Amino acid sequence: MHNIAVIPGDGTGPEVIVEALKAMDATGVPYQTIEFGWGGEHYLKTGETLPEGAVDELREFDAILLGAIGHPDVAPGILEKGILLSARFQLDQYINLRPVKLYPNVETPLRDKGPEDIDFTVVRENTEGIYAGMGGILYEGTLQEVSTQVNQTTFHGAARAIRYAFELTRQRNREKLLHLVFKTNVLTFAGATWWRAFNEIGEEYPDIKRDYMHVDAACMWFVKNPEWFDVLVTDNLFGDIITDLGAMIQGGMGIAAGGNINPEGVSMFEPIGGSAPKYTGQDVINPLAAINAAQMMLSYLGEADAADRVENAVIKALESGRIESMSAGRMGMGTSEMGDFVAGFI
Ligand code: IPM
Ligand code: MN
Repeated sequence: MHNIAVIPGDGTGPEVIVEALKAMDATGVPYQTIEFGWGGEHYLKTGETLPEGAVDELREFDAILLGAIGHPDVAPGILEKGILLSARFQLDQYINLRPVKLYPNVETPLRDKGPEDIDFTVVRENTEGIYAGMGGILYEGTLQEVSTQVNQTTFHGAARAIRYAFELTRQRNREKLLHLVFKTNVLTFAGATWWRAFNEIGEEYPDIKRDYMHVDAACMWFVKNPEWFDVLVTDNLFGDIITDLGAMIQGGMGIAAGGNINPEGVSMFEPIGGSAPKYTGQDVINPLAAINAAQMMLSYLGEADAADRVENAVIKALESGRIESMSAGRMGMGTSEMGDFVAGFI
């Protein structure tokens, strides 16, 4: 029996979580959930983001499934830092795994590119870099205001992300090609650390080809030649940015999922789009990203067969041609109908 903590969160989060759990149910995998009501509403009522002891509670689960965090009435940064980043950091989920895979019948904005061209995975370092929150602000509100935002990079942090990426590249067994994506021509200090870790660890993986790309160039090639990529490893901020681009070329936020992974601890899976407040409660949001997040969770829980069945069901649902678009409100069916439709193929 898998014990899953569910954080439906804000906006459309709860709606898509229902559909993700529907898919889980259809697999027959035994699991039980406990739901936590953290998010924007809870914060507005109580002033609390993650309550005292919340993270210790989360540690007791086998995995966490998260809907979305973000509320229009809460200032930017509070919920993001207080809930999402706090969980990632405190649970040491040092990998943010983001597959970029174009499924059949899904429209990509890239002309002449199809599912055979777009199938790569980004390994985003998830606990360090500029996200660590080092820095400060002095003389705030004056002409002399000075702020620093430090890119905190450790060899240990870069190395463990890189090692995970090499292992994943080997496991995928496709091009056996790992790209390091960074900005070594400008961020020469952090760049040196990433570069050394990449090459030192790379020596242990003679079967994996390594290549390097600056992050700006990677954005360019995502659009021009996505078929060049197999696995990419990069730091927290660059990974954040390039995976939004990745999500777009795989059909948009309606379908893109990710996992915040601590290979030795508790991992958290989420659709990577936001809480989409304007679509809340209308039964129009696309649940596929959340279903794909559940699929990643099953795979991580060791339920490879159930995970394959969910992925194949998503593919069959798309191949049926009945799903008209990945965009909210234009799918040709409602959120729960789509959830039923996919579950029907499981
Ligand atoms: C993501 C999101 C988060 C991030 C925000 C909400 C803090 O954009 O998961 O990519 O920047 O990591
Ligand atoms: Mn992001």
